[in-house]
Parts: sequence; C-alpha cells; structure tokens
Amino acid sequence: MAAEPVNLNEFQELARLALPKMYYDFYAGGAEDEHTLKENVEAFHRITFRPRILVDVSRIDLSTTILDYKISAPIIIAPTALHKLANPEGEVATARAAASCNTIMVLSFTSSCSIEEVAASCNAVRFYQLYVFKKRDIAATLVQRAERNGFKALVLTADTPRLGRREADIKNKMITPQLKNLEGLLSTKVSSDTGSNLEAYAKETMDASLSWKDLEWLRSITKLPILIKGILTREDAIKAVEVGVAGIIVSNHGARQLDYSPATISALEEVVHAVKGRVPILMDGGVRRGTDVFKALALGAQAVLIGRPVVYGLAAKGEYGVRRVIEMLKDEFELTMALTGCPSVKHITRNHVRTEHERI
Ligand code: FNR
Repeated sequence: MAAEPVNLNEFQELARLALPKMYYDFYAGGAEDEHTLKENVEAFHRITFRPRILVDVSRIDLSTTILDYKISAPIIIAPTALHKLANPEGEVATARAAASCNTIMVLSFTSSCSIEEVAASCNAVRFYQLYVFKKRDIAATLVQRAERNGFKALVLTADTPRLGRREADIKNKMITPQLKNLEGLLSTKVSSDTGSNLEAYAKETMDASLSWKDLEWLRSITKLPILIKGILTREDAIKAVEVGVAGIIVSNHGARQLDYSPATISALEEVVHAVKGRVPILMDGGVRRGTDVFKALALGAQAVLIGRPVVYGLAAKGEYGVRRVIEMLKDEFELTMALTGCPSVKHITRNHVRTEHERI
C-alpha cells in the first residue's frame, strides 16, 4: 500500500500496522458479534443518489454553523477515549488538527490529556463530553473545569449505563491507563488481574440509575448548552426536546454498546421527523466517505461526527494524519456536492438520496 493513504480505509490499515494489537483492537472493536459495527458502515452503502445535473457548481461552499459556531464543513471530531495510546501527543495533537481544519473537537471524558492541556494547545472550538458517575461531584468538578477552560458546550453521553461487552478487550486483557482528568477523584484503584479492567472501571464509576430527571440537575450546574448523545428512537428524541437540550446526537456509540442496535444512518430519519426542526440533530457511526456525509445531511443531520478515522489518522501520522483524515473527507464531500448539483449545504435535500425502501 502507498505510504500516503488516499482514503480513510487506508488510514485504518496503516493504524493497524502501527499499533500494538491490544490498542488497535480497542479502537476498532465493537460489542459482541459486531453486527452493528458492520451495519453502521454497510447501511450507508444501501443509500443511493438522485443526482441533479446542469446546476452551476463552479463554486462550492461546504461551511455550516453548529450552535452559532461557523465551521469549514459539517464534519466534527467525535469524543473517543485515550488518544495517547495512538500517539504520545494524544488529544493535544487532535485538537490542533481540529483547529487547523476549522472544525469542532468534542473532547472525551476519558481523555489521556487534561482539559487544561487541550485548552492551552489550540484555539479550536471545543465541546466537552460528559459521563455522569455515581459520585455526582466528579461530573460537577469536570463541568466547572470545562467551563473555566473555554469549552463551548457539553455532550452528555447517555447510552452507557453499563459498558457494552467488547470481546476483543476481554481477550486481550485490555487495561486502561490512568485517566488524566480523573486523577485524585476516584477513591478506589480500578484494576483487575484477570481479564480487561474496563469492566471493573465502568462498574465502579458508571451510574446505571441516571435518568431523564437528572438532566434538570445537570442544567442547574452549568450555563453551557447541553447536547445529548446516544439517541436512536423518536420517543427519546421527543423527551430530549422536552427537557430542553440544545441538540441531539444520533449515535450507537460506534457500535460498542448494544449489538443489534440499528445502524445510525437508518435511525436518523425517525429522529428527524420527531424533532421537527426544534433542535439541531447530528449523527455519528460509520462515516468513512464524503458520500456518507452527504447522505447524512440529506436525511436531516446538520453535521456528522467521526470517531475511529480520527484515531487511525492519529496512530498512523500524528497531528498531520488527523488533519489529512478531515481534509480527505472534506474533499470527497465537496466532490459529492458538485456531482449531485449542490453548491452549498443548504442545497442538499431529501430528494437527493434514495433509501433502500424507496421504489425507483
Ligand atoms: C468511542 N466513543 C465514545 N463516545 C463517548 O461519548 N465517549 C467516549 O469516551 C468514547 N470513547 C470511544 C472510544 C473509541 C475507541 C471509539 C471507537 C468510540 C464513541 C464515539 O464518540 C462515536 O460515537 C463513534 O466512534 C462513532 O462511530 P465511528 O465514527 O467510530 O464509526
């Protein structure tokens, strides 16, 4: 394979060659039989285009606005754990790449660089992803730190009352290193001599009692807008709007939680119809091509987030690799807009795609 990858899938292969098997498996793996992991990608393949011709596409504007922040394209960086396993610079390199591509980075709660380090490293617009642990003080402390350090929104990940069963991590006895932002905040040392310690860590920390009423508490401790991540049904989308979230992220956590949850691109329209434009909807899961970005927008998303491709770029080529991943996806998206007859993201409509259920 060429040393300079030409698409996101080639970055995955470079990352596989660059990383110890345990870490590659941690990034690449999904829950149980990995049915949803494959579906997240394959469901995109079943959507085709209804391209329009003879539209002036001599100038194409990819830019969009998410919660008042103008970004260069509707492609933002999803929160993924432990970037130092991919590259010694960790999330600092990822944040710098986000800044140079003029996009948003969502920093994971389980990051390997601290909130302060990431904030000091660049001026990218940053959102902070939150898990709410049994000890509510931990979330409150981290929310305050994110606010103090100029993060612009919170992303509450709500699909993780317990950790999904990731069998590669169990087999590899995957051990998480110390989580930088949680140093001194957890009382017990979470470790396990047998098997992966991820599960032990999650048991000690994740609060399976978290429910909709806790959104009120979260809103009471912060002025930041809150997006909720992990919605897959109209019922939950309506609840989220009712409790006053600023946005919804349709996500199945990169297929790492509940196997046989739907591919996110298949769940997107149900949520879009339920929300009726009241709050912005973003989606992630399986976005690997500019055509995928276009399909998500045509089905009603304002932007997509990318998870694994960013980590693969980081593992293969550090900050430059993350930048290349975003640039490649932007270039492919721009070409798709040209070939479908859409000079700006506002021109992308439901009529530009055909899902598998629609007759030709
Ligand atoms: C994740 N994801 C995730 N989500 C989150 O809210 N907090 C987190 O800490 C993590 N950590 C994490 C680690 C790794 C290795 C992966 C692959 C994913 C889920 C992530 O935000 C996103 O939903 C998916 O990664 C999107 O799917 P793709 O782009 O990876 O297919």
